[in-house]
Amino acid sequence: MTSHELERVIAYHRITKHAPGRYARSLGYMDWDTQPDPFRRFDGAPRVELPLRADALRTKYAELYEPGAVAPHPLGIDGVATFFELALGLTAWKGYGESRWSLRADPSSGNLHPTEAYAVLPSIAGVLDAGVFHYLSHDHCLEQRARVAPDRAREFAELLPSGGFLVAVSSIHWRESWKYGERAFRYCQHDAGHVLATLRYAAAALGWSARIVDGVGDDFVARVAGTQRKEYLKVDALDREHADYLVCVAPRDAVGAAERVRERASELAALLDSADWTGVPNELSGDHYEWDVIEGVADAAREPAGATAPEPPEADAPRLLAALPDQHVSASAIIRGRRSAVAMDGKTSISAEAFYGILDRLLPRANTAPLDALSWKPRVHLAFFVHRVVGVPSGLYLFERNASVHDTLRAQLGDGPLWTKPPGCPEHLRLHCVTERDLRGLAASISCQQEIAGNGAFSLGMLAEYRASLEAGPHWYCRLFWEAGVIGQVLYLEAEAHGLRGTGIGCYFDDLMHRTLGLEDDALQSLYHFTLGGPVDDERLVTLPPYAHLAERAAR
Ligand SMILES: Cc1cc2nc3c(=O)[nH]c(=O)nc-3n(C[C@H](O)[C@H](O)[C@H](O)COP(=O)(O)O)c2cc1C
Repeated sequence: MTSHELERVIAYHRITKHAPGRYARSLGYMDWDTQPDPFRRFDGAPRVELPLRADALRTKYAELYEPGAVAPHPLGIDGVATFFELALGLTAWKGYGESRWSLRADPSSGNLHPTEAYAVLPSIAGVLDAGVFHYLSHDHCLEQRARVAPDRAREFAELLPSGGFLVAVSSIHWRESWKYGERAFRYCQHDAGHVLATLRYAAAALGWSARIVDGVGDDFVARVAGTQRKEYLKVDALDREHADYLVCVAPRDAVGAAERVRERASELAALLDSADWTGVPNELSGDHYEWDVIEGVADAAREPAGATAPEPPEADAPRLLAALPDQHVSASAIIRGRRSAVAMDGKTSISAEAFYGILDRLLPRANTAPLDALSWKPRVHLAFFVHRVVGVPSGLYLFERNASVHDTLRAQLGDGPLWTKPPGCPEHLRLHCVTERDLRGLAASISCQQEIAGNGAFSLGMLAEYRASLEAGPHWYCRLFWEAGVIGQVLYLEAEAHGLRGTGIGCYFDDLMHRTLGLEDDALQSLYHFTLGGPVDDERLVTLPPYAHLAERAAR
């Protein structure tokens, strides 16, 4: 890593800021002729059809957050199938007139879905041979990319987490840049963060644990996923994938398992290099428009192998008992029922108890989904615009997700603000009121004039410890967005569990947000916004089941 790479990342962030009347560069319209295919497929790769089993899962939503509440499911085909259905599967088709588009368990900016996932699995008797598999959500199947020779399958299994497997995640930046231009790299990272959380939630629903594998570096992730192999030369460079991270899925202790994977990473890579690889990736667009800064920042923010291990989270905070309207609601129903609100009603409020319960879910705790998928101490904090929380005055609030950011925030905001704890706020939640006033208009203005940010019960900006993180290595740029994406996913599911809806907001005016808070330098930067409230549905849309096109398989 050189200071040149750090400068490139910082420059990328600066030039992709939106400001009133000056948006980050993009085509400014959607070129339907070059619209990328939202599904990657591998021609010629053998397929393993997966059963649809998520409906039958008995795990309750509340149990996702209770370590040990769900007995680990065996690592068989049903477990793997349920895992992918919950993490990345289709959840519905939407229709308007002749148009149809699918929704998935993971949200995505513009519903463009840049994220791809590859499972590294041991052999499952009678079902699949050990190797690397691409998950194709459209057909709920695994496409076998690499097959490990049967006489090496045992050696291979020993390099994987015991009783578990690995998932390598990558992004196709072009899918997002097609619509969003230069800001798209940010959105790809948000989406990768959401996916990290959906993988962790899916693992929790099956009684498993999951965690990012530190220190292996992007080249290793690409080698495992096969995304730098020569067969990719057959498609345009922009249709290729950029490695993001590797996740270790293990029956219980993913922390120890991830560490063991890291220690033997070179053996695993060598064994996979010698495996039998099949399949050619599909072309996603007939033509492309290249945004140089995206490839530039992707290169500068690459994670090298052996990066210093991050500082782990502090000791667990006490846990609040969640005040859910239905304590018995199923995890699968919440996970697959998650949707983004397209509009908020401007009326619905939530109780202070529910609000504090949601905040509590955003604190990391050992063995608790999904935040334990991240190996580092929280670096992203929340600035809330509270609009309608009963018993909590409307205004601007700061929620510190670690205690050590307090001095930075106080120094940045100065002594003018109130800095008081709101009524009834549990001691362990570091929530401070900065200003009491009606911020509905301002919240919408900051979110590129999107009314949803003012019409929810609250909206928020995610303040990352930006400068200090980047100084630890430019790859932290991506990690901060991943953390923001994980937070976003918690908020989406919590909204659903409270009978409400959330929406991730990638379009916001960066420096207007910073000025509103009084932030003067780049010690902190707002990397993602979110709103949560009572949704207004678009009655013109029809909703269809996710896998009607696989009806035959479901009936088996
Ligand atoms: C990173 C990110 C940014 C988003 N930004 C916006 C936004 O600025 N405005 C908006 O209305 N929706 C936004 N969304 C919501 C997406 O449009 C939504 O996830 C997508 O259409 C898929 O729908 P679903 O979430 O219901 O599956 C965003 C979602 C993500 C993940």
